[in-house]
Amino acid sequence: MKIAVLPGDGIGPEVTGAALRVLDALAIAGIEVEEGDVGATAYRRHGLPLPLDVIDMARGADAVLFGAVGDPEFDTLPRNLRPEQAILGLRRELGLFANLRPAAGWPGLEALSPLRPELAREIDLLVVRELTGDVYFGAKGERRTEAGERQGWDEMAYGEEEIRRIAHTAFRAAAGRQGHVTSVDKANVLETSRVWREVVSAVAGEYPGIAIEHMYVDNAAMQLVRSPGQFDVILTGNLFGDILSDQASACVGSIGLLPSASLGERQTAYGTFGLYEPIHGSAPDIAGTGRANPLAAILSLAMLLRHSLGRDAEAGRVEEAVGRVLASGLRGADLGGDASTEVLTAAVIRELVQPDQGAA
Ligand code: NAD
Ligand code: IPM
Ligand code: MN
Repeated sequence: MKIAVLPGDGIGPEVTGAALRVLDALAIAGIEVEEGDVGATAYRRHGLPLPLDVIDMARGADAVLFGAVGDPEFDTLPRNLRPEQAILGLRRELGLFANLRPAAGWPGLEALSPLRPELAREIDLLVVRELTGDVYFGAKGERRTEAGERQGWDEMAYGEEEIRRIAHTAFRAAAGRQGHVTSVDKANVLETSRVWREVVSAVAGEYPGIAIEHMYVDNAAMQLVRSPGQFDVILTGNLFGDILSDQASACVGSIGLLPSASLGERQTAYGTFGLYEPIHGSAPDIAGTGRANPLAAILSLAMLLRHSLGRDAEAGRVEEAVGRVLASGLRGADLGGDASTEVLTAAVIRELVQPDQGAA
């Protein structure tokens, strides 16, 4: 079993390092780990945010564990050289069109959500975000208006097959959950969304056991804080999914808690090839302070074990260990506590290795 580890920038290496320590503690025989440079780190060393040999390394692996990319120092580089191109390029090159972002309340965290505890407690949703289309990957550029002003433009488009395959992902996921899909779009304004809604409705017809609801994105953002418990699977496009998943993370308590899996069609000997990363970024404001919450990265490792390596039991052990650490009251700075990355990681490992001793 081969894992390509791409730590990236800012807190990326800090949280990926934590996840790797958890992987070590699991002591699964036969796992090989290879590391590569991406993002600003790769740009500094090799002049490119996503070197070709890193794409090859990812292709040759059964799974990719990704940290985060992004560095304010490079925010003014031409787009194709910006650190963020590493993650966008990997998603595109590896055909990772299905981004799964689970958000569920953790017992003990209700009081730390900006929502009322009784609302936070009922959150148990999965954002199924299309990841290789939409305004992200359409043509874009800058032009001059007739008045001679500069104008930035980005094409938003979704093709039928792109919509169909992500819709199937969502309906299949709902079948293993509460059986409810909310498809989020802006069909009252966008042609992209009109086609999206028509295709999703057609696919819904193939899943008579699953309830389908269509919701405009502005209403969805409002409903997510008003009554998050109404959502089971949120099916949506690349841009809306990016925004709603950050919002869902805050509803749970912190962006430092939300993992993700990005999957395509390729199967490996052990499961589905995928890239796993926290939904957060490189957090330059706290990088190097030792205060990054490593739990999103550790939970991403759990998703990797489950989806790509067929290690359901170990994935469950990691998730349970995280649950016990949170239930013990240990909190990082993002949740109003003072536990460092190191302390949180050590606590998860302790829970994994000797679950009966209780978290520190
Ligand atoms: P961000 O997610 O990095 O940070 C937003 C806020 O959340 C910050 O205050 C940060 O300190 C906090 N935060 C994030 N993760 C945390 C963690 N694990 N523990 C504690 N606090 C945490 O988003 P941003 O500030 O908008 O972006 C910073 C950089 O990251 C940008 O360059 C952006 O493009 C990039 N980015 C990359 C990815 C990715 O690699 N997939 C994702 C999002 C943003
Ligand atoms: C994410 C990030 C990325 C996205 C950026 C860094 C390109 O925000 O993974 O959520 O917008 O998809
Ligand atoms: Mn994002």
